[in-house]
Amino acid sequence: MSDAPILSALNHVTDLAGADDFAKKHTPFIQTGDEDGKTRIDVALGHYVAHPNQPDHFIQWIEVLAGDNPIARFDLSPVATDPKVSVVVDLDAGTTVRAMAYCNLHGLWAAETVL
Ligand SMILES: [Fe+2]
Repeated sequence: MSDAPILSALNHVTDLAGADDFAKKHTPFIQTGDEDGKTRIDVALGHYVAHPNQPDHFIQWIEVLAGDNPIARFDLSPVATDPKVSVVVDLDAGTTVRAMAYCNLHGLWAAETVL
């Protein structure tokens, strides 16, 4: 059992590179790129510090939002899937993209970027 605090509120980290290891394990890392004239959004957990991926402690889901509107959701299984997802979108430049991830022990974490 982890001795990390149980978190119930949304954790929003704005400076992931400067965050502590606990935040680095849980905060979505967002990258974007061109894919045939559209935008590919890659969201990964554990970019800086790996998050556990075991049946008793894992990332249960990742959601991608355009502004406040959910546009993609991925439900993940521990062990069989890494907490890394991608989706291709057709959104305007300047759109705020948010990613949210849910750890079964440590709650909800969010990050955002602007296209
Ligand atoms: Fe966790």
